[in-house]
Amino acid sequence: MNRQRIIAIDGPAASGKSTVAREVAKRMSNCIYVDSGSLYRGVTWKMIQSGVNTKNPLLVLPVLLKSKWKFEVRDRAVVFSIDGVEPGEALRDKDVREAVSDIAAIPGVRIFVVRNLRKLKKLGSLAMEGRDIGSVVFPKTPYKFYLDANPEERANRRHAELAAKGETEKAQEVLESLQRRDQKDSSRKTAPLKIADGAYVIDTSGHGIEEVTRILMDRIAELEKPRTDKMLNPVWYHITCKFFGICLSVVNRYKIYGLKNIPETGGVIIASNHASYIDPPVVGASSRKKRMTHFMARDTLFRNPLMGAFLRRVGVIPLDRDKGDIKAMKTAIQLLKDGASVALFPEGTRSVDGTLQPPKPGIGFLVAKGHAPVVPVYVHGSYEAWSKHSGGLKFKPVAVVFGKLITREEILGLGEGRAAYSLIGELIMKRIAELKENFEKGLIHE
Ligand code: DC
Repeated sequence: MNRQRIIAIDGPAASGKSTVAREVAKRMSNCIYVDSGSLYRGVTWKMIQSGVNTKNPLLVLPVLLKSKWKFEVRDRAVVFSIDGVEPGEALRDKDVREAVSDIAAIPGVRIFVVRNLRKLKKLGSLAMEGRDIGSVVFPKTPYKFYLDANPEERANRRHAELAAKGETEKAQEVLESLQRRDQKDSSRKTAPLKIADGAYVIDTSGHGIEEVTRILMDRIAELEKPRTDKMLNPVWYHITCKFFGICLSVVNRYKIYGLKNIPETGGVIIASNHASYIDPPVVGASSRKKRMTHFMARDTLFRNPLMGAFLRRVGVIPLDRDKGDIKAMKTAIQLLKDGASVALFPEGTRSVDGTLQPPKPGIGFLVAKGHAPVVPVYVHGSYEAWSKHSGGLKFKPVAVVFGKLITREEILGLGEGRAAYSLIGELIMKRIAELKENFEKGLIHE
Protein backbone atom coordinates (compact mmCIF):
# COMPACT_ATOMS: atom_id res chain seq x y z
CA MET A 1 0.00 0.00 0.00
CA ASN A 2 1.15 3.47 -0.82
CA ARG A 3 0.90 5.40 2.43
CA GLN A 4 0.01 9.07 2.39
CA ARG A 5 2.63 11.28 3.93
CA ILE A 6 2.38 14.95 4.72
CA ILE A 7 5.94 16.18 4.99
CA ALA A 8 6.07 19.58 6.67
CA ILE A 9 9.26 21.52 5.99
CA ASP A 10 9.43 24.86 7.78
CA GLY A 11 12.17 27.41 8.22
CA PRO A 12 13.23 31.00 7.51
CA ALA A 13 13.73 32.44 4.01
CA ALA A 14 16.55 30.89 1.97
CA SER A 15 17.18 28.09 4.46
CA GLY A 16 17.11 25.64 1.54
CA LYS A 17 13.62 24.32 2.20
CA SER A 18 12.21 24.88 -1.33
CA THR A 19 14.96 22.96 -3.09
CA VAL A 20 14.93 20.21 -0.50
CA ALA A 21 11.12 19.91 -0.50
CA ARG A 22 11.10 19.67 -4.31
CA GLU A 23 13.78 17.01 -4.17
CA VAL A 24 11.92 15.01 -1.51
CA ALA A 25 8.72 15.13 -3.60
CA LYS A 26 10.65 13.78 -6.59
CA ARG A 27 12.10 10.88 -4.65
CA MET A 28 8.80 9.67 -3.24
CA SER A 29 6.04 7.99 -5.11
CA ASN A 30 2.84 9.96 -5.53
CA CYS A 31 4.21 13.02 -3.72
CA ILE A 32 3.55 16.62 -4.72
CA TYR A 33 5.58 19.68 -3.87
CA VAL A 34 3.73 22.63 -2.36
CA ASP A 35 5.30 26.04 -1.84
CA SER A 36 2.93 27.52 0.75
CA GLY A 37 4.69 30.88 0.57
CA SER A 38 3.59 31.15 -3.07
CA LEU A 39 -0.04 31.42 -1.86
CA TYR A 40 0.86 34.39 0.37
CA ARG A 41 2.78 35.80 -2.59
CA GLY A 42 -0.28 35.11 -4.77
CA VAL A 43 -2.49 37.15 -2.44
CA THR A 44 0.12 39.94 -2.47
CA TRP A 45 0.38 39.88 -6.27
CA LYS A 46 -3.41 40.06 -6.60
CA MET A 47 -3.55 43.09 -4.28
CA ILE A 48 -0.80 44.89 -6.18
CA GLN A 49 -2.61 44.11 -9.47
CA SER A 50 -5.83 45.47 -8.01
CA GLY A 51 -4.13 48.59 -6.63
CA VAL A 52 -4.98 47.65 -3.03
CA ASN A 53 -2.89 48.90 -0.10
CA THR A 54 -1.27 45.69 1.18
CA LYS A 55 -0.98 47.05 4.71
CA ASN A 56 -4.72 47.53 5.13
CA PRO A 57 -6.62 44.32 6.03
CA LEU A 58 -9.95 46.08 5.56
CA LEU A 59 -9.14 46.63 1.90
CA VAL A 60 -7.30 43.34 1.33
CA LEU A 61 -9.91 40.91 2.60
CA PRO A 62 -12.91 41.90 0.43
CA VAL A 63 -10.77 41.66 -2.73
CA LEU A 64 -9.33 38.34 -1.60
CA LEU A 65 -12.72 36.84 -0.83
CA LYS A 66 -14.04 37.83 -4.26
CA SER A 67 -11.09 36.25 -6.11
CA LYS A 68 -11.37 32.78 -7.68
CA TRP A 69 -8.43 30.44 -7.16
CA LYS A 70 -7.83 27.29 -9.16
CA PHE A 71 -5.18 24.76 -8.18
CA GLU A 72 -3.62 22.11 -10.39
CA VAL A 73 -0.61 19.83 -10.40
CA ARG A 74 2.13 20.35 -12.96
CA ASP A 75 5.51 18.57 -12.93
CA ARG A 76 4.65 17.20 -9.48
CA ALA A 77 4.18 20.68 -8.05
CA VAL A 78 1.03 22.62 -7.21
CA VAL A 79 0.43 25.72 -9.36
CA PHE A 80 -2.54 28.07 -9.25
CA SER A 81 -4.36 30.76 -11.14
CA ILE A 82 -6.24 33.71 -9.63
CA ASP A 83 -9.25 34.92 -11.55
CA GLY A 84 -8.04 33.00 -14.59
CA VAL A 85 -4.47 34.40 -14.58
CA GLU A 86 -1.42 32.41 -13.51
CA PRO A 87 0.98 34.77 -11.74
CA GLY A 88 3.91 32.35 -12.27
CA GLU A 89 7.29 34.08 -12.12
CA ALA A 90 5.69 37.42 -11.16
CA LEU A 91 5.35 35.97 -7.64
CA ARG A 92 9.11 36.48 -7.25
CA ASP A 93 9.08 40.19 -8.27
CA LYS A 94 10.58 42.70 -5.90
CA ASP A 95 7.32 44.54 -5.14
CA VAL A 96 5.69 41.22 -4.15
CA ARG A 97 8.73 40.21 -2.10
CA GLU A 98 8.75 43.44 -0.14
CA ALA A 99 5.00 43.44 0.64
CA VAL A 100 4.39 39.76 1.32
CA SER A 101 5.29 39.81 5.05
CA ASP A 102 2.58 42.39 5.70
CA ILE A 103 0.05 40.29 3.80
CA ALA A 104 1.11 37.10 5.60
CA ALA A 105 0.56 38.81 8.96
CA ILE A 106 -3.16 39.43 8.28
CA PRO A 107 -5.15 36.77 10.21
CA GLY A 108 -7.94 36.62 7.58
CA VAL A 109 -5.37 35.96 4.83
CA ARG A 110 -3.83 33.20 6.90
CA ILE A 111 -7.21 31.52 7.42
CA PHE A 112 -7.82 31.63 3.67
CA VAL A 113 -4.37 30.21 2.81
CA VAL A 114 -4.38 27.53 5.54
CA ARG A 115 -7.81 26.31 4.40
CA ASN A 116 -6.60 25.99 0.80
CA LEU A 117 -3.38 24.27 1.85
CA ARG A 118 -5.31 21.68 3.87
CA LYS A 119 -7.58 20.95 0.90
CA LEU A 120 -4.51 19.91 -1.13
CA LYS A 121 -4.34 16.78 0.99
CA LYS A 122 -6.79 15.17 -1.41
CA LEU A 123 -4.03 15.17 -4.06
CA GLY A 124 -1.97 12.51 -2.23
CA SER A 125 1.32 12.81 -0.37
CA LEU A 126 2.61 16.35 0.00
CA ALA A 127 6.06 17.82 0.60
CA MET A 128 4.92 21.23 1.79
CA GLU A 129 7.31 23.99 2.75
CA GLY A 130 6.58 27.16 4.67
CA ARG A 131 6.70 28.74 8.11
CA ASP A 132 3.80 27.16 9.98
CA ILE A 133 3.16 23.85 8.23
CA GLY A 134 4.18 21.69 11.20
CA SER A 135 2.76 24.05 13.81
CA VAL A 136 -0.57 25.15 12.27
CA VAL A 137 -1.44 23.67 8.88
CA PHE A 138 -0.72 19.99 9.62
CA PRO A 139 0.20 19.84 13.33
CA LYS A 140 -0.59 16.12 13.53
CA THR A 141 1.79 14.94 10.85
CA PRO A 142 4.70 12.92 12.25
CA TYR A 143 6.97 14.20 9.43
CA LYS A 144 7.95 17.62 10.68
CA PHE A 145 11.21 19.34 9.75
CA TYR A 146 12.71 22.71 10.50
CA LEU A 147 15.55 23.84 8.25
CA ASP A 148 17.77 26.68 9.31
CA ALA A 149 21.07 28.30 8.35
CA ASN A 150 22.94 31.35 9.58
CA PRO A 151 21.68 34.68 8.13
CA GLU A 152 24.87 35.41 6.16
CA GLU A 153 24.72 32.07 4.37
CA ARG A 154 21.02 32.48 3.66
CA ALA A 155 21.63 35.98 2.28
CA ASN A 156 24.45 34.68 0.07
CA ARG A 157 22.17 31.97 -1.33
CA ARG A 158 19.37 34.46 -2.02
CA HIS A 159 21.85 36.93 -3.55
CA ALA A 160 23.16 34.25 -5.94
CA GLU A 161 19.58 33.32 -6.92
CA LEU A 162 18.72 36.94 -7.65
CA ALA A 163 21.95 37.53 -9.58
CA ALA A 164 21.18 34.46 -11.71
CA LYS A 165 17.86 36.11 -12.59
CA GLY A 166 19.68 39.30 -13.60
CA GLU A 167 18.66 41.36 -10.55
CA THR A 168 21.24 43.80 -9.27
CA GLU A 169 20.58 44.01 -5.53
CA LYS A 170 23.77 44.23 -3.43
CA ALA A 171 24.63 41.41 -1.02
CA GLN A 172 24.22 43.78 1.96
CA GLU A 173 20.77 44.86 0.77
CA VAL A 174 19.71 41.23 0.41
CA LEU A 175 20.93 40.47 3.95
CA GLU A 176 19.05 43.45 5.37
CA SER A 177 15.85 42.61 3.50
CA LEU A 178 16.08 39.00 4.70
CA GLN A 179 16.60 40.10 8.30
CA ARG A 180 13.60 42.44 8.05
CA ARG A 181 11.46 39.55 6.84
CA ASP A 182 12.79 37.14 9.48
CA GLN A 183 11.91 39.71 12.11
CA LYS A 184 8.37 40.25 10.75
CA ASP A 185 7.76 36.52 10.23
CA SER A 186 8.83 35.54 13.73
CA SER A 187 7.25 38.41 15.64
CA ARG A 188 3.78 38.51 14.07
CA LYS A 189 0.91 37.54 16.36
CA THR A 190 -0.73 34.90 14.14
CA ALA A 191 1.28 31.72 13.40
CA PRO A 192 4.77 33.20 13.80
CA LEU A 193 7.74 31.32 12.40
CA LYS A 194 8.78 28.83 15.09
CA ILE A 195 10.05 25.30 15.46
CA ALA A 196 6.96 23.09 15.64
CA ASP A 197 6.89 20.71 18.57
CA GLY A 198 8.34 17.40 17.54
CA ALA A 199 10.05 18.92 14.49
CA TYR A 200 13.43 17.58 13.47
CA VAL A 201 15.84 20.51 13.19
CA ILE A 202 18.46 20.49 10.43
CA ASP A 203 21.09 23.22 10.25
CA THR A 204 21.84 23.47 6.54
CA SER A 205 24.80 25.91 6.92
CA GLY A 206 27.71 24.45 5.00
CA HIS A 207 25.68 21.46 3.77
CA GLY A 208 24.66 20.81 0.20
CA ILE A 209 21.16 20.00 -1.02
CA GLU A 210 21.98 16.33 -1.53
CA GLU A 211 23.26 15.96 2.03
CA VAL A 212 20.26 17.71 3.60
CA THR A 213 17.82 15.73 1.44
CA ARG A 214 19.53 12.53 2.56
CA ILE A 215 19.26 13.50 6.25
CA LEU A 216 15.57 14.21 5.76
CA MET A 217 14.86 11.01 3.84
CA ASP A 218 16.76 8.98 6.45
CA ARG A 219 14.68 10.56 9.17
CA ILE A 220 11.46 9.66 7.33
CA ALA A 221 12.71 6.07 6.99
CA GLU A 222 13.57 6.04 10.70
CA LEU A 223 10.08 7.23 11.63
CA GLU A 224 8.62 4.40 9.58
CA LYS A 225 10.77 1.69 11.11
CA PRO A 226 8.86 -0.68 13.37
CA ARG A 227 8.70 1.24 16.63
CA THR A 228 11.03 0.48 19.48
CA ASP A 229 8.13 0.81 21.89
CA LYS A 230 6.54 -2.33 20.48
CA MET A 231 7.61 -3.66 23.86
CA LEU A 232 4.84 -1.60 25.42
CA ASN A 233 1.61 -3.55 25.63
CA PRO A 234 -1.31 -1.03 25.66
CA VAL A 235 -3.72 -3.37 27.44
CA TRP A 236 -1.28 -4.03 30.28
CA TYR A 237 -0.35 -0.38 30.40
CA HIS A 238 -3.89 0.93 30.69
CA ILE A 239 -4.98 -1.71 33.20
CA THR A 240 -1.94 -0.98 35.38
CA CYS A 241 -2.42 2.78 35.24
CA LYS A 242 -6.15 2.49 35.83
CA PHE A 243 -5.43 0.38 38.92
CA PHE A 244 -2.95 2.95 40.26
CA GLY A 245 -5.41 5.73 39.42
CA ILE A 246 -8.15 4.11 41.49
CA CYS A 247 -5.79 3.53 44.46
CA LEU A 248 -4.54 7.11 44.32
CA SER A 249 -8.08 8.48 44.13
CA VAL A 250 -9.20 6.46 47.10
CA VAL A 251 -6.11 6.84 49.32
CA ASN A 252 -4.75 10.21 48.23
CA ARG A 253 -7.72 11.92 46.55
CA TYR A 254 -5.25 12.87 43.85
CA LYS A 255 -6.02 15.79 41.58
CA ILE A 256 -4.67 16.46 38.08
CA TYR A 257 -3.97 19.91 36.63
CA GLY A 258 -2.82 21.05 33.18
CA LEU A 259 -3.23 17.76 31.33
CA LYS A 260 -3.80 19.77 28.16
CA ASN A 261 -0.10 20.69 28.22
CA ILE A 262 0.89 17.18 27.12
CA PRO A 263 1.07 17.05 23.31
CA GLU A 264 -0.86 14.09 21.91
CA THR A 265 1.66 13.14 19.26
CA GLY A 266 5.40 13.33 18.68
CA GLY A 267 8.33 12.61 20.97
CA VAL A 268 7.99 14.27 24.36
CA ILE A 269 9.73 14.12 27.72
CA ILE A 270 7.65 14.30 30.86
CA ALA A 271 9.99 15.54 33.60
CA SER A 272 8.82 15.41 37.20
CA ASN A 273 10.21 16.10 40.66
CA HIS A 274 10.82 12.97 42.71
CA ALA A 275 10.22 12.54 46.45
CA SER A 276 8.39 9.25 46.70
CA TYR A 277 7.84 5.73 45.38
CA ILE A 278 4.43 6.86 44.26
CA ASP A 279 5.68 9.50 41.80
CA PRO A 280 5.92 7.15 38.80
CA PRO A 281 2.39 5.76 39.36
CA VAL A 282 1.08 9.31 39.91
CA VAL A 283 2.64 10.59 36.68
CA GLY A 284 1.68 7.43 34.73
CA ALA A 285 -1.91 7.25 35.95
CA SER A 286 -2.56 10.93 35.25
CA SER A 287 -0.77 11.26 31.89
CA ARG A 288 -2.43 8.02 30.67
CA LYS A 289 -5.51 10.11 29.95
CA LYS A 290 -3.47 11.80 27.21
CA ARG A 291 -0.93 9.15 26.11
CA MET A 292 1.20 6.21 27.19
CA THR A 293 4.65 6.94 28.61
CA HIS A 294 7.83 4.98 29.11
CA PHE A 295 9.42 5.13 32.54
CA MET A 296 12.89 4.12 33.62
CA ALA A 297 13.51 1.92 36.65
CA ARG A 298 16.51 0.38 38.42
CA ASP A 299 17.67 -2.70 36.52
CA THR A 300 17.79 -4.66 39.80
CA LEU A 301 13.97 -4.63 39.77
CA PHE A 302 14.10 -6.64 36.55
CA ARG A 303 16.03 -9.48 38.24
CA ASN A 304 12.86 -11.10 39.46
CA PRO A 305 11.60 -12.76 36.24
CA LEU A 306 7.92 -12.06 36.93
CA MET A 307 8.52 -8.46 37.89
CA GLY A 308 10.90 -8.04 34.93
CA ALA A 309 8.32 -9.40 32.46
CA PHE A 310 5.64 -7.11 33.92
CA LEU A 311 7.84 -3.99 33.82
CA ARG A 312 8.81 -4.66 30.22
CA ARG A 313 5.16 -5.11 29.22
CA VAL A 314 4.30 -1.71 30.61
CA GLY A 315 7.20 -0.17 28.70
CA VAL A 316 9.67 0.43 31.54
CA ILE A 317 13.31 0.86 30.46
CA PRO A 318 15.88 -0.86 32.76
CA LEU A 319 18.50 1.55 34.05
CA ASP A 320 21.80 0.81 35.75
CA ARG A 321 21.93 3.74 38.17
CA ASP A 322 25.53 3.16 39.27
CA LYS A 323 27.03 3.60 35.81
CA GLY A 324 26.06 6.22 33.28
CA ASP A 325 23.82 3.73 31.48
CA ILE A 326 24.48 4.30 27.76
CA LYS A 327 22.14 1.52 26.68
CA ALA A 328 19.18 2.96 28.59
CA MET A 329 19.98 6.43 27.24
CA LYS A 330 20.10 5.09 23.69
CA THR A 331 16.77 3.30 24.12
CA ALA A 332 15.14 6.45 25.50
CA ILE A 333 16.59 8.63 22.71
CA GLN A 334 15.38 6.17 20.07
CA LEU A 335 11.92 6.11 21.64
CA LEU A 336 11.76 9.89 21.57
CA LYS A 337 12.90 9.98 17.95
CA ASP A 338 10.22 7.40 17.16
CA GLY A 339 7.64 9.81 18.52
CA ALA A 340 7.06 8.19 21.94
CA SER A 341 6.70 9.78 25.36
CA VAL A 342 9.39 9.18 28.01
CA ALA A 343 9.01 10.15 31.67
CA LEU A 344 12.08 11.17 33.62
CA PHE A 345 12.96 12.32 37.10
CA PRO A 346 15.72 14.90 36.56
CA GLU A 347 16.81 14.75 40.20
CA GLY A 348 17.76 11.09 39.74
CA THR A 349 16.74 9.71 43.11
CA ARG A 350 13.99 10.51 45.62
CA SER A 351 14.54 13.63 47.65
CA VAL A 352 15.37 12.79 51.30
CA ASP A 353 13.43 15.72 52.73
CA GLY A 354 10.86 16.49 50.06
CA THR A 355 12.62 19.61 48.77
CA LEU A 356 13.62 19.97 45.12
CA GLN A 357 17.16 18.86 44.31
CA PRO A 358 19.57 19.88 41.53
CA PRO A 359 19.28 17.95 38.25
CA LYS A 360 21.55 15.05 37.33
CA PRO A 361 23.83 15.78 34.36
CA GLY A 362 22.36 13.04 32.11
CA ILE A 363 18.97 14.73 31.78
CA GLY A 364 20.24 17.62 29.61
CA PHE A 365 22.06 15.19 27.35
CA LEU A 366 18.93 13.10 26.87
CA VAL A 367 16.76 16.12 26.16
CA ALA A 368 19.28 17.51 23.67
CA LYS A 369 19.75 14.23 21.83
CA GLY A 370 16.12 13.12 21.91
CA HIS A 371 15.03 16.16 19.83
CA ALA A 372 11.87 16.40 21.92
CA PRO A 373 10.15 19.14 23.93
CA VAL A 374 9.69 18.76 27.70
CA VAL A 375 6.58 18.93 29.87
CA PRO A 376 7.67 19.99 33.38
CA VAL A 377 5.64 18.30 36.12
CA TYR A 378 5.25 19.04 39.80
CA VAL A 379 3.94 16.25 42.02
CA HIS A 380 2.67 17.72 45.27
CA GLY A 381 2.20 15.80 48.51
CA SER A 382 3.84 12.53 47.46
CA TYR A 383 6.59 13.02 50.08
CA GLU A 384 3.99 13.28 52.81
CA ALA A 385 2.09 10.30 51.35
CA TRP A 386 5.10 7.96 51.17
CA SER A 387 8.59 9.33 51.81
CA LYS A 388 11.92 7.55 52.11
CA HIS A 389 11.36 7.47 55.89
CA SER A 390 7.64 6.73 56.26
CA GLY A 391 6.88 3.06 56.49
CA GLY A 392 4.18 2.90 53.80
CA LEU A 393 1.38 4.72 52.03
CA LYS A 394 -0.46 7.35 54.08
CA PHE A 395 -3.87 8.95 53.50
CA LYS A 396 -2.42 12.31 52.46
CA PRO A 397 -3.66 14.38 49.52
CA VAL A 398 -1.60 14.31 46.32
CA ALA A 399 -1.79 16.59 43.29
CA VAL A 400 -0.01 16.54 39.96
CA VAL A 401 0.52 19.67 37.88
CA PHE A 402 1.58 19.46 34.21
CA GLY A 403 3.22 22.73 33.20
CA LYS A 404 3.54 24.55 29.88
CA LEU A 405 5.71 22.80 27.32
CA ILE A 406 9.39 23.75 27.17
CA THR A 407 9.69 23.92 23.40
CA ARG A 408 12.54 22.69 21.21
CA GLU A 409 13.19 26.29 20.31
CA GLU A 410 13.76 27.21 23.94
CA ILE A 411 16.01 24.19 24.42
CA LEU A 412 18.05 24.92 21.30
CA GLY A 413 18.37 28.53 22.49
CA LEU A 414 20.51 27.24 25.37
CA GLY A 415 23.28 26.27 22.95
CA GLU A 416 25.06 23.01 22.32
CA GLY A 417 27.40 20.61 24.10
CA ARG A 418 28.12 20.04 27.77
CA ALA A 419 27.50 23.62 28.90
CA ALA A 420 24.04 23.46 27.33
CA TYR A 421 23.27 20.09 28.98
CA SER A 422 23.53 21.54 32.47
CA LEU A 423 21.53 24.62 31.44
CA ILE A 424 18.77 22.35 30.11
CA GLY A 425 18.62 20.42 33.41
CA GLU A 426 18.53 23.70 35.36
CA LEU A 427 15.79 25.14 33.15
CA ILE A 428 13.61 22.08 33.74
CA MET A 429 14.09 22.22 37.53
CA LYS A 430 13.39 25.97 37.45
CA ARG A 431 10.08 25.34 35.67
CA ILE A 432 9.19 22.63 38.19
CA ALA A 433 10.03 25.03 41.04
CA GLU A 434 7.74 27.65 39.46
CA LEU A 435 4.90 25.12 39.26
CA LYS A 436 5.49 24.27 42.93
CA GLU A 437 5.40 27.91 43.93
CA ASN A 438 2.27 28.66 41.90
CA PHE A 439 0.54 25.57 43.22
CA GLU A 440 1.39 26.43 46.84
CA LYS A 441 0.10 29.97 46.33
CA GLY A 442 -3.17 28.54 45.07
CA LEU A 443 -2.66 29.96 41.58
CA ILE A 444 -3.27 26.72 39.69
CA HIS A 445 -6.92 25.93 39.11
CA GLU A 446 -7.59 23.71 36.13
O1 DC B 1 8.81 31.16 1.55
P1 DC B 1 8.53 32.51 0.88
O2 DC B 1 9.69 33.45 0.93
O3 DC B 1 7.98 32.36 -0.49
O4 DC B 1 7.36 33.15 1.79
C1 DC B 1 6.76 34.35 1.45
C2 DC B 1 6.19 35.02 2.70
O5 DC B 1 5.08 34.29 3.17
C3 DC B 1 7.15 35.18 3.85
O6 DC B 1 7.10 36.50 4.35
C4 DC B 1 6.65 34.26 4.90
C5 DC B 1 5.23 34.01 4.55
N1 DC B 1 4.83 32.64 4.78
C6 DC B 1 4.13 32.36 5.92
O7 DC B 1 3.89 33.26 6.71
N2 DC B 1 3.69 31.11 6.17
C7 DC B 1 3.97 30.12 5.31
N3 DC B 1 3.53 28.89 5.59
C8 DC B 1 4.73 30.37 4.16
C9 DC B 1 5.16 31.65 3.92
